[in-house]
Amino acid sequence: MQQADLTKRINELKLKRNAVILSHYYSRPEVQDIADFVGDSLALSQEAVRQDADVIVFCGVHFMGESAAILSPNKTVLLPEIDATCPMADMVNVEGLKILKEKHPEAPVVSYVNSSAAIKAESYICCTSANAVEVVNSLDADEVIFVPDKNLAAYVASRTDKKIIPWEGHCPTHHQILREDVLKMKEKHPRAEFIAHPECRPDVLELADHVASTRGMIVHAERSPAKEFIIGTECGLIHGLFKAVPEKTYYCVSEFACCPSMKMVNLEKVLTSLEKMQQRVIVPEDVRARAKEALDRMLAVKIN
Ligand code: 13P
Ligand code: SF4
Repeated sequence: MQQADLTKRINELKLKRNAVILSHYYSRPEVQDIADFVGDSLALSQEAVRQDADVIVFCGVHFMGESAAILSPNKTVLLPEIDATCPMADMVNVEGLKILKEKHPEAPVVSYVNSSAAIKAESYICCTSANAVEVVNSLDADEVIFVPDKNLAAYVASRTDKKIIPWEGHCPTHHQILREDVLKMKEKHPRAEFIAHPECRPDVLELADHVASTRGMIVHAERSPAKEFIIGTECGLIHGLFKAVPEKTYYCVSEFACCPSMKMVNLEKVLTSLEKMQQRVIVPEDVRARAKEALDRMLAVKIN
């Protein structure tokens, strides 16, 4: 089917099902273009609650759909591609986390939303890359367990007085962005600002003019006097940057900064998902209720 026909059919089914399509900035451009809302992980969690729809089609990876299902149990949350999982979220398991909790009984667990519902249920509070520093600083504790991203943990540690006990996970897409890649791009584009996601390695973040979540990077591109930017995150964000601030120029820091899981969803799969009402995200109720407490605590934290 041609893209125009796919879009037409998707829109018809959206109306019929009273559905909305939410997409992360890392999705394929054509998927972002048919979405009702495109955002970073924090905004998508908030939007899932705000939307007055019966069905949410979540164009992203599994943990994102799960967060929507945890926060909105009365809505049907569909993932067009159930096998689109986040490798970093799979790097932490409940058994390991329980052992770490026993070792540090006074330390509350902060789990990055890039984690399973079961990990969230074992956590005191969640965070995203947009609010991790504020979440950690909001806690009445001197030390904090932070899972699963060691790079985000190191970034938070550089911005708080609290001791951060990290988990050894990482995002393969961001972790393979190297200092040498940034230095090469800076040499090629000397007037460009380098803006980076906090999932990047600490030695990459040292080179950044600005560190932010995906949405934060768009806001920065709008406000900065710079006209050119080297983008230190997954390449899908460049589409959102062009849409929001088309008069500026963006260079992806590395041709390898691409998340294969986020690219698994395409328009055909969105259509099939709406046609067959598949794949539904189901979270067992006891896990959901505990995970929701951790997400609700996060949503109550004020960010600057
Ligand atoms: P944001 O928190 O900026 O949305 O992105 C993190 C991410 O890697 C989503 O997979
Ligand atoms: Fe996971 Fe990294 Fe892909 Fe985000 S970009 S979904 S953190 S692997």
